[in-house]
Amino acid sequence: MSKKVLVSGGAGYIGSHVTVELMAAGYEVVVADNLSNCDLTCFEGVKKITGRDDIPFYQIDCCDYVSVDKVFTEHKIDAVIHFAAFKAVGESVSEPIKYYSNNLVSFLNILEAAKNHGGCNVLFSSSATVYGEAKDLPVTEQTPRMPAMSPYGNTKTMCEDILRDVVYATSTQDAVIKGIALRYFNPIGAHPSALIGELPRGVPNNLVPYITQTAIGKRECLSIFGNDYPTEDGTCLRDFIDVTDLAKAHVAAVARMFEGRMKKGYEIFNVGTGRPVSVYELVTKFEQVSGVKLDYKFVARREGDVMALWADPTFANRELGWKAERTIEETLASAWAWEKHLAE
Ligand code: UFG
Repeated sequence: MSKKVLVSGGAGYIGSHVTVELMAAGYEVVVADNLSNCDLTCFEGVKKITGRDDIPFYQIDCCDYVSVDKVFTEHKIDAVIHFAAFKAVGESVSEPIKYYSNNLVSFLNILEAAKNHGGCNVLFSSSATVYGEAKDLPVTEQTPRMPAMSPYGNTKTMCEDILRDVVYATSTQDAVIKGIALRYFNPIGAHPSALIGELPRGVPNNLVPYITQTAIGKRECLSIFGNDYPTEDGTCLRDFIDVTDLAKAHVAAVARMFEGRMKKGYEIFNVGTGRPVSVYELVTKFEQVSGVKLDYKFVARREGDVMALWADPTFANRELGWKAERTIEETLASAWAWEKHLAE
């Protein structure tokens, strides 16, 4: 019988891509999402891509323990991939209570339900934000975490620690929980089918949706935050990773858990390409790939941005047998195809 994976936040951007890749790998998926930051567009897209109309979907808030418990009662869950969280860095600074309560309580409920139902594997979606402004680049998993730059970032650090502690405590108990934290760099792009992708509500915070929305005419002009950083072209450097590549890392990680290949009860992996790309370079490449001349201007630096951050993905490459494969051009073309699909 195939293993069953609960994807919390599975109707969202990364969650929907992960659902597709899990199903392609033969897993059964149960999706839980409160639709607070998305609608059913991507979930419908997932159904079309997979050709499956019967994916169990729970419109629940993971902050409600009773609802989470019900999912575990109705399904024998072998692993949970937890995405259900708020993710706007700036908003987290102005609304810390909202971020701490949502992001921590929902994860605690998942862990508690997992424990109460006999234990399972838990994969947490963490972020490269835990490295802050790293001194040595690229960052490995041994690079020390830095104090978080925002409440959002702090919830990632805190949830990593919660998972670590729960794994440690349950290792000697009846209901064992094993954990993996994947630290994502900058996920971008969309599924090659253009049926699922990033769907920001309101004005996008992240670079690529802002670029594609400017290109399609929804936004007037892209602001590039800072061209006076001590980098080659003066703009920030990031490790942009294709969302399908990222999704495949999750499949590799759950397979490692299911096949008993973990070397410790709690493991951490960087999920990046190892390739730094500047903001300006990305804008230029987008223009080449799309054939659209973008309106952009250089403005002041954005508060809280680090100058440069990219991964050393060697550990994930070796241990997960996974590697980011798509070129930046392919990924940008997929983001553009998705934006055009939305405009149809
Ligand atoms: N940028 C612009 N203009 C925009 C948007 C972004 O110039 O309109 C720049 C930013 O200044 C930054 C780069 O593009 O240099 C990437 O910005 P994003 O907002 O796309 O991504 P971040 O690197 O800021 O954010 C990522 C993750 C967050 C995480 C954060 C921590 O998306 O989840 O890293 O640094 F918290």
